[in-house]
Amino acid sequence: MIDIDKVRADFPILKEKVNGKPLVYFDNAATSQKPQVVIDSIVNYYSTINSNIHRGVHTLSQKATDAYEAARLKVQQHFNAKNSYEIILTAGTTHSINIVATGFTSLLNKGDEIIVSALEHHSNIVPWQMLCERTGAILKVIPMNLEGELVMSEYDNLLSNKTKLVFVNHVSNALGTINPIEEIIEKAHNIGAAVLIDGAQSCPHIKPNVQALNVDFYVASAHKLCGPTGVGVLYGKEEWLNKLPPYQGGGEMIKKVTFEKTTYADLPHKFEAGTPNICGGIAFGTALDYMNSIGFDNIAAYEHKLLEYATKRLLEIEDLKIYGTSKNKTAVISFNIGNIHPFDIGSIIDKLGIAVRTGHHCAQPIMDFYKIPGTIRASFSFYNTFEEIDSLISALTKAKMMLS
Ligand code: ALA
Repeated sequence: MIDIDKVRADFPILKEKVNGKPLVYFDNAATSQKPQVVIDSIVNYYSTINSNIHRGVHTLSQKATDAYEAARLKVQQHFNAKNSYEIILTAGTTHSINIVATGFTSLLNKGDEIIVSALEHHSNIVPWQMLCERTGAILKVIPMNLEGELVMSEYDNLLSNKTKLVFVNHVSNALGTINPIEEIIEKAHNIGAAVLIDGAQSCPHIKPNVQALNVDFYVASAHKLCGPTGVGVLYGKEEWLNKLPPYQGGGEMIKKVTFEKTTYADLPHKFEAGTPNICGGIAFGTALDYMNSIGFDNIAAYEHKLLEYATKRLLEIEDLKIYGTSKNKTAVISFNIGNIHPFDIGSIIDKLGIAVRTGHHCAQPIMDFYKIPGTIRASFSFYNTFEEIDSLISALTKAKMMLS
């Protein structure tokens, strides 16, 4: 059960006014808000132990190193990775994907095939296109249907002995569809292909178990999980992380450097060149503790009620069309009203204190599929309320009247 008043009291920003109105924050798929414990964790780090890690014998450096490595263990535990060194702390999902995509340059041959889905964010399309340009590999796409679901029979047809890699998001950022990743992983493994799952949009709602999924790579960002921006995770199976070359050269990722030859550090440091986002990593750990204290089952159940209520109320507005109607959805609703441009509606409801995202949501192929320039996207979190949804409905009704 979510105690909504108690939860909301944890988030100072929810008391803010925007344009003179109480903030209604429905842009959670872009980034989540931060509870006071996470803000405190950032302030405490800089107030008490700020120093560089893995480098100093001095006390502060050791304290910061211990706090950072403790955060890695929290991430390991959260994702249920077998080993802590399979957790690479990165700058975020995009960085994590690029580490893998760049690393595969030396592992692919011309004519090899890699599969993505029609539901991907640009960050899970462009790095693979760049990989294809470098290697001569061919990109194939699992198509989608009008409900915003993947056409899994077409996936079966795309898989062959040429397939080397499959990359799919766990949840679509634009539509909220939860993809059948268990089936996708199993079928890819049956023909010997590796699988990367982009968990940027699933992790705020679903706790993934990477060992149970038997997934090769799983990536996510802290900032959608009540943590800070600029930090994320790349989980990789040990065997795969050992096969991939380092992404960046620099300090901390080496065993020995001479001008003739450099040898690389063991995992996870091989992929963590340079001074990392130390404070961010520590605050990521605090954010995971916070989310787990609320409980992912409670979060999913509450958000599902918000989704059902918002869907019902939105459909009361004449000419409103929802894109992405899968039964398997997180609390994301993409919609348009008649032919009104999403940007115009977004701008008017912003004046009424309501924050939504408008546009193509970094998923232009989905918009092309529906032949629309973009949508209005309301994305909900466990700290939102049914009353806030009522405010959205009355703001949309006003905006529609003004623009029709
Ligand atoms: N990927 C984020 C979103 O969907 C930024 O809004």
